[in-house]
Amino acid sequence: MQIKVQKVGGKIPASHAHITLIPKGVERVVREGKTDTLEIVSGKFEKITPRTLRTLIRTIVQTAKKNKLTKVVLPLEYADFPKCAEYGEAWFWSTVAENILLADYEYTTYKSKQPKKTLIEIILVTKSEKVAKEGIKRGMIVGEYANICRDVANTPGGDMTPQMLAERAKMVLKGTKAKVTVLDEKAILKLKMGGLLGVGQGAKDKPRFIVIEYFGGKKSEAPVVFVGKGVTFDTGGLQVKPGMAMYEMHMDMSGGASVIASIGAIAKLGLKKNVVGLIPAAENAIGEKAMRPGDVLTMMSGTTVDVLHTDAEGRLILADALHYARKYNPKLIVDIATLTGAALVAVGTHAHVIMTKDRKLEDTFRDLGEESGDYTFPLPLWDEYKQYTKGANADIANIPTGDSRNAGTITAGMFLAHFTKKMKWVHIDMAPRMTSNQSDKLAKGATGEPTRLLVKIAERF
Ligand code: BES
Ligand code: MN
Ligand code: ZN
Repeated sequence: MQIKVQKVGGKIPASHAHITLIPKGVERVVREGKTDTLEIVSGKFEKITPRTLRTLIRTIVQTAKKNKLTKVVLPLEYADFPKCAEYGEAWFWSTVAENILLADYEYTTYKSKQPKKTLIEIILVTKSEKVAKEGIKRGMIVGEYANICRDVANTPGGDMTPQMLAERAKMVLKGTKAKVTVLDEKAILKLKMGGLLGVGQGAKDKPRFIVIEYFGGKKSEAPVVFVGKGVTFDTGGLQVKPGMAMYEMHMDMSGGASVIASIGAIAKLGLKKNVVGLIPAAENAIGEKAMRPGDVLTMMSGTTVDVLHTDAEGRLILADALHYARKYNPKLIVDIATLTGAALVAVGTHAHVIMTKDRKLEDTFRDLGEESGDYTFPLPLWDEYKQYTKGANADIANIPTGDSRNAGTITAGMFLAHFTKKMKWVHIDMAPRMTSNQSDKLAKGATGEPTRLLVKIAERF
């Protein structure tokens, strides 16, 4: 897909269909002579917000594709959307470009016949060529890498072992300034990452610990560290998931995929920032060597953990990665994980749940959610919830003793908090956004989130 910019008044090639926004009416294609005009219902311009702008752009792309239009012209003026003015004009064009690419994406790797790309070119007509070009350049990078995230996350579990995830990281980051180091089982053993080893011990394919280092800033500057859950398939372990609850668990490495993709975008953008990505990768499988309920693991930090539930594996591998992050002395650490089904119970499929003990960070992350399109909403990490992480035989347990279903997202966050003491830390439970919903106007499957948010965080911190 190509996005071109053209100044208002310039000549538009006859090969291109026109897209016009109409405040009300019905979507239709009008054919006059040789040119097609696609009318898209947008509502009143002055009512379009950053949120509705994104779905409007996606609707335009999907409708154009449905009508098999290959080349289209979209006249857009930033000034027409007063409610979209708050983040500035470069943001506007970046958002337009990102969402054009996101809406164009389909996961076709496993189709025996590659479907023909229908929409191949969009010309954006604008008054402000220079700012538009700048914004679109950023948006195309961010959109491209969010789609790469979707490709990685959508890959079936059978074709995505921990080692393969590591290879994908290398492939995505090849040719950039980011350096990928892969620690194998021996190295993980040496680091005494008991959580990562415990979760991975039931699988034929052994765990990996993926380290991505991008040093685009001053040497002396502390990095932002992203930690992404990399469970390549989550069967639930011996406490196996029932029926259809297991079906989408090849996407349980979506946090890791977004870390890989966002650092790809950050490197491509050439941000003068230091960013580190850590991905503990393991398959939570069933087998004679699998960890058992009641087993005790000793984590890299030295903390001992009762495994009261083999399906609460994400927090076990993240604990080791969060501890490992200390060696970077990070100015901010953010973990991203498809951690709890309970997060879906709390917010449905419309937000990433964010948790932090730092109120200012909480507000910043909510704002960056709105600005990026990867919407976030907070849950508490109050001391009152600490009691639910008490261990039976060990220091702490991976689920509340007594198997309480209450506050499942918070108790998972409280478990992680044991390993982030004295660090500036935000936890993102992205389970609600692992797959798209109907109103997203995206292809079924992985959303590619929160890649856009992570890029914004790197830009801001
Ligand atoms: N990967 C799952 C969480 C999940 C569920 C993500 C649905 C996306 C969609 C996680 O490892 C898990 O199994 N969590 C358990 C925790 C429970 C055993 C305390 C859950 O949510 O049921
Ligand atoms: Mn699980
Ligand atoms: Zn999981």
